[in-house]
Amino acid sequence: MKDRIDGLIARCRGEIATCTCVQSLTECKVKFLGKNGELTAILRGMKDLSPEDKPIIGSLVNKARDELANELTIAEQSLKQAELNSKLNNEKVDITWVKNTDKSGTLHPLTKIQNLIIDSFVPMGFEVLEGPEIETEYYNFEALNVPADHPARDMQDTFYITQNILLRTHTSPNQVRTMEAKKPPIKMLCPGRTYRADYDASHSPVFHQIEGLVIDENLTLCDLMGTLECVARKLFSADTKVRFRPSYFPFTEPSVEVDVSCCKCGGVGCSVCKGTGWVEILGAGMVHPYVLENCGIDSNKYTGFAFGLGVERMAMIKYGITDIRLFFENDKRFLKQFNK
Ligand code: PHE
Repeated sequence: MKDRIDGLIARCRGEIATCTCVQSLTECKVKFLGKNGELTAILRGMKDLSPEDKPIIGSLVNKARDELANELTIAEQSLKQAELNSKLNNEKVDITWVKNTDKSGTLHPLTKIQNLIIDSFVPMGFEVLEGPEIETEYYNFEALNVPADHPARDMQDTFYITQNILLRTHTSPNQVRTMEAKKPPIKMLCPGRTYRADYDASHSPVFHQIEGLVIDENLTLCDLMGTLECVARKLFSADTKVRFRPSYFPFTEPSVEVDVSCCKCGGVGCSVCKGTGWVEILGAGMVHPYVLENCGIDSNKYTGFAFGLGVERMAMIKYGITDIRLFFENDKRFLKQFNK
């Protein structure tokens, strides 16, 4: 019996020595000292021993249990310490690390310009509305006096979803939506994304416009000119010159295109204005009587003006940017420059 106990002690010590984690040590403890362990089995067999042997073997078993339990505890403590050390090593904090101070987001230059434009109209009493980017052919063209055979409907310009549903090519459908929903007087501004199948340094398939619409009694082209002149001076500078050229849009009559004196060269001629001293900023005109009537507004009583302004174009002029694609590449080196 003594040999059996000695053998057990030797095997248990051998296993303790090979344990590399707390888990395997626990398994070893169960195997030798647990309820169904080997030492408990020896204790159970003691009932068959002679009365003289019982106390001798009993004390050997107790001694073996105490010693092994003690050795297991010591081994467990040193394994736990080793595990903690390796965890601390792996989670070491580098106190020389420099915090990235460039984490907070900033407004995109287009958002900034859009806000600037809106802010210069709002004090004049304009309210800001929004409309759908996926439009029907009726709101995008038909109601705006753009008949089915008009070149603006060319498949190459417009992203059609079905024959009647498309991605809006301008924000002008919101003129119609607003006139349908509200009674004059109306003074609205509608910013939003617009889409055309075009892609080069000055055209992007997605771009942004801000539509403006004013409807009231007795409005004339002078009101349009005064309003836009006032805003152009706020956006660029007080001495900016504004020029109105006759133009054509199916939904305005008369129609104009509006130029401002180049803010880069002051009108002398440079790369931004292509040597002309002027840059075009928007299209505008008096709302066509057909459009008013399409929206249920009496064209004998009311007149109005509308304008559509390209946000990218305004930003390019203001900051001297020569490639529209820069706005959509999200290169931080580009974007950062507008957040001084
Ligand atoms: N919708 C026109 C365009 O995208 C601009 C415009 C708006 C012209 C309102 C006149 C009146 O080119």
